[in-house]
Amino acid sequence: MMIVLWIFLLVVLLSAALAGLSAAPWLPTLPSQRKHLLDQLKLQPGQTVVDLGCGDGSMLFAVARRFPEVICTGYDISLLPLFIAWGRKLLFFKTYKNVHIRFGDLFKQDCQNANIVFIFLLSKCYPKLLTSLKGKVAPNAQVIVEAWPLPNLEPQETLKAEGLLPVYIYTGTIFRA
Ligand SMILES: C[S@@+](CC[C@H](N)C(=O)[O-])C[C@H]1O[C@@H](n2cnc3c(N)ncnc32)[C@H](O)[C@@H]1O
Repeated sequence: MMIVLWIFLLVVLLSAALAGLSAAPWLPTLPSQRKHLLDQLKLQPGQTVVDLGCGDGSMLFAVARRFPEVICTGYDISLLPLFIAWGRKLLFFKTYKNVHIRFGDLFKQDCQNANIVFIFLLSKCYPKLLTSLKGKVAPNAQVIVEAWPLPNLEPQETLKAEGLLPVYIYTGTIFRA
């Protein structure tokens, strides 16, 4: 029994290490930052938000509470935050019926159906991210990037507020193939 537990812990740790090396460690967006971001969003029922590297899903759960009819999908490869997200979804399945948290590599996702793509990752992964998203974001989508701007690309809008990380908003056209 103990050996199973150790293997499980090892896999959880390895998945966290892999995520840190791949794009960023798990660091949830702060509640004040989330609120600031949510205040900017204009979403209609049925529209879709994707969080690439969703962690424990806090961003998507916050979107779902504000916009219950919006479809929220998040991808992560780190197991600990994923378990927390799945647990939250199970506990509050009615509130979060439109939130979908998936185990998956953010570099392999197609975001064509997303109206908003949310990104909070280390800038070291941006070159790979830009290549992976080429042709996979709808032209009219908004790509919302927290903390560090995408290299050599002009944001449509930059949000700055005291005590918060800057947020860069890009149009999906910059990801055209
Ligand atoms: C800084 S956290 C952001 C969490 C969440 N988006 C938020 O704002 O609260 C970055 C997340 O990206 C995940 N991540 C790193 N590399 C990844 C990859 N290749 N595929 C999917 N998720 C990844 C990490 O596990 C971590 O949870």
